[in-house]
Amino acid sequence: MTESQRVALVTGGANGIGAAIGALLASRGLRVVLADRDERVRETADRIGGDAILMDVADPMSIAAAEIAELDVLVNSAAIAPTSGLGDAGLLDDFSRALDVNVRGILAVVSALLPQLRRSASPRILNIGSVQGSAAAAGGIAYATSKGAVNSLTRALAVDLADAGILVNALAPGFTDTAMALLPDGTSEYDTEWFRSVYVRHGRVPLRRPAAAEEIAEAAEFLVSERNTYVTGAILPVDGGLLATF
Ligand SMILES: NC(=O)c1ccc[n+]([C@@H]2O[C@H](COP(=O)([O-])OP(=O)(O)OC[C@H]3O[C@@H](n4cnc5c(N)ncnc54)[C@H](O)[C@@H]3O)[C@@H](O)[C@H]2O)c1
Repeated sequence: MTESQRVALVTGGANGIGAAIGALLASRGLRVVLADRDERVRETADRIGGDAILMDVADPMSIAAAEIAELDVLVNSAAIAPTSGLGDAGLLDDFSRALDVNVRGILAVVSALLPQLRRSASPRILNIGSVQGSAAAAGGIAYATSKGAVNSLTRALAVDLADAGILVNALAPGFTDTAMALLPDGTSEYDTEWFRSVYVRHGRVPLRRPAAAEEIAEAAEFLVSERNTYVTGAILPVDGGLLATF
């Protein structure tokens, strides 16, 4: 099978990192299917020359309804980032919801599409984790816990699926310029004085800037490509050096 004939499904593909990965894979000749609960997935798919599926990864019925005959690459980018903290009334509900979407959602989609991946000549799974899988940020209890579990799930899947030839990895992006970085008032967290002071001027992000979603996609593309033949169970930070310093 040649690279140009491979089929990729990207959850969370309507926006941000998922959309950027979908666009890059499409530009490399893969047939790309974007799956998202956000109806804008159709526009994004039109823009990149792919197909769209409305899917809620927390809803097994909507996963089962997806008609995917062949699949070589599964990218799990769908996630939510609740910010409720200790003492907030919604914390436990947010915690459950983050685990449902960010962790159980990955396992549900992988389980549903395993038969198709097993038939592929070069099957790859890529989960989008976060630096918060390894280091906590204030107000991130639900999100950080879910992303730690994504790292563990990635390693467990890599071990269990190795005999089937399915390579499973995760990216751990740092600050990335997407809707997830928007504050409740609609401005970007990266435009705040706090971000510029701590992360840029003081070099808490050694590269002194957030990533563009397209930069995360470049790392994703290698891991899901046929050029990757021996990386599995890896969690790759794509974070401008954030986790390398303190
Ligand atoms: N933006 C960052 O700074 C950053 C940093 C580290 C990790 N990440 C991770 O990158 C991935 C993509 O996030 P992003 O920054 O592109 O954010 P985003 O909000 O732009 O995209 C997330 C997408 O997931 C979709 N989604 C959410 N819940 C869903 C569900 N139940 N079913 C289907 N789709 C669902 C949303 O509709 C959206 O299109 C996420 O896993 C996120 O945790 C982002």
